[in-house]
Amino acid sequence: MSTTIESVLHETRLFPPSEEFKAQAAISGMEAYKALCAKAEADYEGFWAELARENVVWQQPFTVTLDESGAPFYKWFSDGKLNASYNCLDKNVEAGLGDKTAIIFEADGGEVSKVTYKELLARVSQFANALKSLGVQKGDRVVIYLPMSVEGVIAMQACARIGATHSVVFGGFSAHALRDRIEDAGAVLVITADEQCRGGRNMPLKPAVDEAIGLGGCGSIRNVIVFKRTGGPVEWAEGRDLWWHDVVAGQPLECEPEWVDAEHPLFLLYTSGSTGKPKGVQHSTGGYLLHSIVTMKWTFDIKPTDVYWCTADIGWITGHTYVTYGPLACGATEVVFEGVPTYPDAGRFWRMIQDHKVSVFYTAPTAIRSLIKLAGAHPELHPGKFDLSSLRLLGTVGEPINPEAWMWFHEAVGGSRCPIADTWWQTETGGHMITPLPGVTPTVPGSCTLPLPGIMAAIVDETGHDVEWGKGGLLVVKKPWPSMIRTIWNDPDRFRKSYFPEDLGGKLYLAGDGSVRDPETGYFTIMGRIDDVLNVSGHRLGTMEIESALVAHPLVAEAAVVGKPHDVKGEAVVAYVVLKRARPTGDEAKEIVKQLRDWVGHEIGPIAKPDEIRFGDNLPKTRSGKIMRRLLRALAKGEEITQDVSTLENPAILDQLNEAVK
Ligand code: WTA
Repeated sequence: MSTTIESVLHETRLFPPSEEFKAQAAISGMEAYKALCAKAEADYEGFWAELARENVVWQQPFTVTLDESGAPFYKWFSDGKLNASYNCLDKNVEAGLGDKTAIIFEADGGEVSKVTYKELLARVSQFANALKSLGVQKGDRVVIYLPMSVEGVIAMQACARIGATHSVVFGGFSAHALRDRIEDAGAVLVITADEQCRGGRNMPLKPAVDEAIGLGGCGSIRNVIVFKRTGGPVEWAEGRDLWWHDVVAGQPLECEPEWVDAEHPLFLLYTSGSTGKPKGVQHSTGGYLLHSIVTMKWTFDIKPTDVYWCTADIGWITGHTYVTYGPLACGATEVVFEGVPTYPDAGRFWRMIQDHKVSVFYTAPTAIRSLIKLAGAHPELHPGKFDLSSLRLLGTVGEPINPEAWMWFHEAVGGSRCPIADTWWQTETGGHMITPLPGVTPTVPGSCTLPLPGIMAAIVDETGHDVEWGKGGLLVVKKPWPSMIRTIWNDPDRFRKSYFPEDLGGKLYLAGDGSVRDPETGYFTIMGRIDDVLNVSGHRLGTMEIESALVAHPLVAEAAVVGKPHDVKGEAVVAYVVLKRARPTGDEAKEIVKQLRDWVGHEIGPIAKPDEIRFGDNLPKTRSGKIMRRLLRALAKGEEITQDVSTLENPAILDQLNEAVK
């Protein structure tokens, strides 16, 4: 880690916000930021209580701000009542924004449609009534397996409206992954589409739901609602399956929101951890909504005139906080995009920014890196060929952004004029935690800079003690914050052990990332995960999940998965595999690699397919039988092996494992 730390600390380019931006920003200037931080230090609960009163509409005001009695199962605003959908829709219509465009939807093929706040409220209410007519009640779990669509946002908002807890499963996950999530959540209903359109292709979605239910374990499911996206062929289970258009037909366009306690679970979102089983991260209603609103204002400086576009899919946390809830709760106009950045060509993002006059643009480093490459090969698709003058603010999320990609984003996309918010946060944190503020923070390429006011981020060693600036360590948060994960669904014990480990004293939230602070500025730079979690194109994948998928294949005896740096995806998946039969070579090896890749695609989803598979007669293990992962990581990177390998049963396997099947 120390060589990386040196290169990180070597970055000296500094980009202060322009006076013009600063003058109009929600938080303007370093003094204002410091004053907010000091306020939070001095009266932590008072700080958050004031924000919660100013930013959220409560049906019943709260009197208790933070309840620590069950720590680390913290409660925020627990005697307050509210409804998230009311805060995103009715509130804006009542404030006179009914005719304002809420969503500009652009389909994969380029068709554009617009929905106003008034229309969105009516459609959400109508769908909420449809859910109620099917017996969905407050507290029931509803799985949403939909492509990026207005309907996806409507489905989530409708659940929130009636107090049902949604659990969105990314459309790229397979039937197996979907089944596991339905089963763990005990969902009563799945909302899906016949097909999804991406990159000019129609891909079936509904069959994965049929397969998931067919696999068993989904006995809690009563109905499947199917949105007709393409009209492609679908199988139909009479009595269980219902068309979206049929269930809404005749339903009233008004639906009284269900007022829920602030702690009522708004949603579960499954994410990868260091065991094979994904974790159902449970979020609250009040604290979560508050943070989504406050960060839209602080980080994105959202203004009534903005056209805001976050490219994340609703299947990930970014699509929850910064597509479905935050922008709508702020009455913004936002772009929702069904397709991919490279279809019909690599100019898609830039053309869309130009056409819709996008002013705030939030995307992932992996997309930027792939577009840099493509712009190199197709100069006519370089962002400079488009009119991007509407942009005033840029953001990135999901993985570290390398300084070269940052500079390109800054210059080629932002015209050297737009501040960049490199936002560090996680599924578990609910919203931004460490990020530059556009009217405050001089930015440094590759650094997420400073924590938001009220977020007590720090770096500690393995015993929970602070480390000096300039030294690497574990990223933690020292105080609970309103939008934090409440528990892991069905597994409170795992929640406590994963996030508030006893080794660190049991009181610090352990993020699972390594980080370092600049010795002079105190700016944070994220060094990547410290656990067995990979970050592939901004998607979190557990190595154990991929290993379990591999060993479930009839040919596989044992498997170990590690990451290796990749110039576009950030990290690539490398799998070491021992078969139950002799180690294959030549064409046979190629054939088995194909089989195993397809298998993982089928077990988890295409995003988890190993980029490289290496076969050995054995895996390198310590005397106690633990797989030497560090060695496997070094092998994957092609590094020289400097560790002691004398304890290996069969050192010759290192030569075998050095070779990927080409
Ligand atoms: C990584 C996505 C560096 C980090 C919102 C974290 C980042 C994981 C950044 C969470 C960033 C996210 N710089 N690394 N700006 N943002 N990460 O749960 O490793 O999908 O722990 O949430 O992504 O991924 P998740």
